[in-house]
Order: sequence, then structure tokens, then C-alpha cells
Amino acid sequence: MLNKKKYASVLLNYYKSFGVETHIQNKPRKRFESCFSGKKNENSLKTKLTNLKKEIINLDCELKFKAKNFVFFDGITNSNVMIIGEAPGFEEDKIGKPFVGAAGKKLDQMINAIDLDRRKNVYITNIIPWRPPDNRTPTNDEIGIFLPYVEKHISIINPKIILLFGNVASKSILKIEDGITKIHGKWFNYKNPFLKKEILTTCIFHPSYLLRSPSQKKIAWEDLKKVKRKLTTLKI
Ligand code: URA
Repeated sequence: MLNKKKYASVLLNYYKSFGVETHIQNKPRKRFESCFSGKKNENSLKTKLTNLKKEIINLDCELKFKAKNFVFFDGITNSNVMIIGEAPGFEEDKIGKPFVGAAGKKLDQMINAIDLDRRKNVYITNIIPWRPPDNRTPTNDEIGIFLPYVEKHISIINPKIILLFGNVASKSILKIEDGITKIHGKWFNYKNPFLKKEILTTCIFHPSYLLRSPSQKKIAWEDLKKVKRKLTTLKI
């Protein structure tokens, strides 16, 4: 991609080559808005996500024949913060959106407490897009099928921060053996195979785990406060 100045200069020279000296329109056209403001181009994001969805739906995986719905994402495509969970559960499978059942309500509570909101500034997806039967943990083979597509998904959203909820998301994305009890609250520079830059990434206890083990909520809250501090420091 051309940098902002280069893009502006190439475009102006292109106009000049036609002898254009002035250009007046009734309505100002925000031609440079996306590159000067750092905003991502919504249309190209949508196209990329639609293409990615088609690629995933065509994958050869038994899970799709057992699930009711494909669960792709929820939230704001133009977000700086991307949340990745494990796999859809019963409610998510029924509705076709991630984190809409009891764990989803807990997730919303957790992120809302640090001013993140799926209707405003967060993008949410899972490692696995179809519900594993009986909510079982996805197998390594299943994770292996979808991981390259989650990596592509991350590169399309291109967030500034990634929050990995639970063991499966943390270990799969960071490609590490250590479990969530050891790595929660730590910051990692995640290297995505499709991006040049590294993305600040942290791991947080899964909301389902907190529903089962409420005594761990205090730890999760400390980790969420670290995320809030990081967002403030980075002015996100
Ligand atoms: N748990 C997850 O990891 N993802 C969901 O979408 C729902 C529950």
C-alpha cells in the first residue's frame, strides 16, 4: 500500500497529466479520509470478510454437518480490539452469532466494565465456526483446519490489540504449550503470518470458566484492568 503522501502525490500528478488545474464538486468528497485518519476502508473489509466466509464454508470439516448455523463474527468490523473465543455453544449455534448465550452475557459484562462494547468498539470471533457436538472441546485436527483462516481473519480486521479468551484460543493463536492459568494477564507480541506488524495480545480466563469457578473472577478483573491501562496508554 502507498503511504499517505505518496498516494496524494501520485493522484495529483495523474490529474495534472490530463491538464486538470481545478476540481470543484457540489459535495466534498472525502477521498483521503481513510488513509489520513487511519480508518479502515469499510467496503474492502466487507468484501474480504465475505470472501473469507466463502472459503471457510467450503472447507472439508465434519462439524458443519452437525451444526445448525455457521458462526462467523459479531461486533464492529472497524475495531481496534479483536476478541477471539473457542467455539460456538448451543445458543450461538441457534442464532449464528458468537457469545450470545450465558458465556456471552458474562463476556459482555467483563468487557463493558473496561468500556469495550460489541456494538461500539469490539470485534468478536471464535477459533471454530461450527459448534462441536455436545459442546466438546475442539480436537487438534479441527483447530488445525481453521487456524490458518482465523489468522487470515485477524489480518483482515488488523486490530491493535487482541484479547484471547480461554485456553483453546490462547494456545492456538500464540502456538504455545503453556495453559491459560500460567499465561493469563501477560502481554505477547503476536506475529501474524499475513501481516508485517506484530499485534499486542493478551489472554484472559474464559467467561464459561468464570461461571463455573466464580472465585477466579478477581484474577480476571485484574487482567481486564491491565487491558484498560494498555488501551489508555495507547489512546485506543
Ligand atoms: N464460548 C466461546 O468460546 N465462544 C462462543 O461463541 C460461545 C461460547
